[in-house]
Amino acid sequence: MTDQKEVKLQEVQKVLDSVFIRHSAFKTIKSQFDECLNSYTGHGEPICMLVHGHSGVGKTTLASSYLADYPPVYLEERKIVPVLNAVIPVPATMKNMASELLEKLGDPYSDRGTLEQRTKRLRKLLKECKTELIILDEFQHFIDRKSERVILDVSDWLKNLISNTSIPVVLVGLSYSREVLFANEQLMRRFSYQAEMKPFSWDDEHSRKEFVKILSVIDRELENVFGNKAGFTNYANRFYAATKGLIALMIKLIRGSAREAVVSASDRIELRHLAKAYKDRLLTNNEMANPFSSNWDGEYADPLPEIRHLGGNMAAARMLEKRSLSNVLSTR
Ligand SMILES: Nc1ncnc2c1ncn2[C@@H]1O[C@H](COP(=O)(O)OP(=O)(O)OP(=O)(O)O)[C@@H](O)[C@H]1O
Ligand SMILES: [Mg+2]
Repeated sequence: MTDQKEVKLQEVQKVLDSVFIRHSAFKTIKSQFDECLNSYTGHGEPICMLVHGHSGVGKTTLASSYLADYPPVYLEERKIVPVLNAVIPVPATMKNMASELLEKLGDPYSDRGTLEQRTKRLRKLLKECKTELIILDEFQHFIDRKSERVILDVSDWLKNLISNTSIPVVLVGLSYSREVLFANEQLMRRFSYQAEMKPFSWDDEHSRKEFVKILSVIDRELENVFGNKAGFTNYANRFYAATKGLIALMIKLIRGSAREAVVSASDRIELRHLAKAYKDRLLTNNEMANPFSSNWDGEYADPLPEIRHLGGNMAAARMLEKRSLSNVLSTR
C-alpha cells in the first residue's frame, strides 16, 4: 500500500475512534447512573440497578464514559475513586471478585490473603477511596459457562458487599444475565430497577430519526478525510437491514467500507465499498441478501439473530424467555 493510502487509513481510524454518540438511550441511562450515585449516603440501602442488552448496543462504552465523568483523583497520601468500574472476572469466584476490585483501587497485594482478609481490605479501601458507585460489567459471568448454573456464592458475596458498605452498584450485562437475579431473591430485590439498552428501531420514528442522524454525523466527519460525503443517509434503510440498529455493527461496517474506499483509491465511500465490507465483515449466513447489493429487494436481513447474542448460554436464554417482567416485579 502506498504511503498516501496508509496516511488516509490512519486518518479514517482516528475519526472513527473518536466518534462518540450521546444518543437518547445513552443520556437516559446515564441519568439513571446519576440517580444511583446520588443515593449514596454511607448508610442504609442504596439505589442499585441492572443495565442489560444485546452485545454491541454500547453498554461498556456507556460505563466507560460515566467513569470518564468521575475519574480517580490522586492525592498525596491516597487515591480517591468516586466511581469504581470493573469487569467481573472469569471464573467469577468470590476471591477473584475481591481481587479485581482491590486491584482497581490500587491495592498492590490484591491477590493475597484469604477471602475474608481480601473482603475486609476491600471494604476498608472502598471507604478510604471514598467510592460512591461501583459499576460491574459482564454480569453474565455470574453464570458458569460449563454448567450453565448461576454461581450463587458470588452473588451472595455481592449482596453482602452492598449491605455492608451501602455503596450503590450498577450491574451491566447481556439480557440473559437477569437469570442470576431469578436465582437469588435477595439480589433481585436490590436490582429490581432495570434498564434495557436496545438497538435502534426502524419502526419507531424517534429511534429511526436518531439512527439516520448518527449516519449523517459520521458521514460529515469522514468528509474531512475523503473530501466528499458518502451520502450514508440515502442508504439508511440498507444500513438498518445490515446492522439491525446495532451501533457496534454500524461503526464496524463504516470502518470497513472506508478502508475499501481508501484501498481502491476512491474519493468517496460508495455502495460497492459498503457491500464489500458487509460481505467480508458482517455477513454470517451466505444465503442472506446483501443489503448493499444493487439488486437488494428491501427485505430486512438479520445478520445477528437474537440467539447469537446469548454467548452460547442457551439454557439460561431459554429460561429467561419463559419469564415475564411481572415475575421480576413480583419478587420485590
Ligand atoms: N455511544 C457510542 N458512540 C460511538 N460508538 C459507539 C457507541 N456505543 C458503542 N459504540 C461502538 O460499538 C462498539 C461496541 O460497543 P460496546 O462494547 O460498548 O458494546 P456492548 O454493549 O458492551 O457489547 P458487549 O455486550 O458485547 O460487551 C464500540 O467499540 C464502538 O465502536
Ligand atoms: Mg460490553
